[in-house]
Amino acid sequence: MKVLYTRDQIDQRISELAEEISRDYEGKDILAIGLLKGCTVFMSHLLVQIKGSVEIDFMTISSYKHGSRSENFKFIQDLDTEVAGRDVLIIEDIIDTGKTMAFTVKHLEARGAKSIEIATFVDKTERRSAETKKPKYIGFHYDEAPFIIGFGFDFGGRYRNLPEVYQMEEQDHKAAAKA
Ligand code: IMP
Ligand code: MG
Repeated sequence: MKVLYTRDQIDQRISELAEEISRDYEGKDILAIGLLKGCTVFMSHLLVQIKGSVEIDFMTISSYKHGSRSENFKFIQDLDTEVAGRDVLIIEDIIDTGKTMAFTVKHLEARGAKSIEIATFVDKTERRSAETKKPKYIGFHYDEAPFIIGFGFDFGGRYRNLPEVYQMEEQDHKAAAKA
């Protein structure tokens, strides 16, 4: 495993994002919607640095194959906050193909959000295939598509607790498959 972002780099970048968000939303009442489970670590570090009024809620969305090709999404856990008329800030760990985000944004628009913006810890654009709203707040951007773990990112449900962000390499995939 190779360290991609150290804790210092992560903390520094999250502070910058929080400052930007605090400035942009001055006087507004943010509804921060986290996409579980990946959002948890990034969201908690970001939230405590945002100044002003923030209400939080969570959604869990899962994708499943429909037939051999198309992919569908379903809610495992929906929001319990009224979205209509709210300034929504979606908080996500990573946007890859963009399919999860496209589904989420469409859903929140249909519920009448007043505004919708996206904060993602990592934006990985190489495999982007779905047309989705561009994230306004991006922690780190990647043109290629390394598989990353730690600081909220998982591999098979594990490693979200690692304090830094690592890139998984070929031998790590093999080791994980054997474990
Ligand atoms: P999308 O619908 O392809 O944009 O899916 C995004 C989701 O895929 C994220 O919320 C992550 O759960 C997962 N994902 C994509 N890339 C990675 C990665 O490098 N590490 C861990 N999870 C990832
Ligand atoms: Mg996720």
